Amino acid sequence: STDVSTLIDRYVRDIPDYPQPGVVFKDITPLLSHPTALRTAIDALAEPLLGSEIDLVAGLEARGFIFAAPVAVRLGAGFVPLRKAGKLPAETLAESYDLEYGTATVEMHADAVPPGSRVLIVDDVLATGGTGRAAVDLIRRAGGTVVGLSVLLELGFLKGREKLADVELRALATV
Ligand code: PRP
Ligand code: HPA
Repeated sequence: STDVSTLIDRYVRDIPDYPQPGVVFKDITPLLSHPTALRTAIDALAEPLLGSEIDLVAGLEARGFIFAAPVAVRLGAGFVPLRKAGKLPAETLAESYDLEYGTATVEMHADAVPPGSRVLIVDDVLATGGTGRAAVDLIRRAGGTVVGLSVLLELGFLKGREKLADVELRALATV
């Protein structure tokens, strides 16, 4: 058996100058297509939370969805999609934020997180932390308790963790 941080190191590749010059993009698609790496990553995201009471796992479109739904199943929780603007059909709450390469808005259905719900947020990569911060703020605005924010990979040099000092932040690997 291979340790999860070794699998992430082996199966996440660097793509220079994507999506714009100067950005070295971490591409998780080799990890997704490798059966053992995919299962090990999902198991490792769920494992620290197995003893915690979690009602909902919120996943961030698009790559966060891949991990959040199977983690929700492992934790016996439901899944809530946090989506890019304009994609959700019912009434939404919205938060705008800055990305490493642009700006974006994330939305959640206004009734997706009943007050008092205990919610774990899952995403693939923590970069500047803007997306994670927006997700935390959305869930709290709805009256939910953020149990944690878990990601596969933290880009430590972008210092996203500093925006999330009030959250239990877990990363399977940090570069
Ligand atoms: C990426 C990534 C995280 C976020 C991290 O998503 O999947 O959600 O950016 O960046 P941050 O910490 O600087 O906010 P992206 O918006 O590129 O969307 P995608 O998953 O649809 O490709
Ligand atoms: N890789 C993947 N996702 C990202 C990155 C990256 O380098 N930066 C922000 N989101």
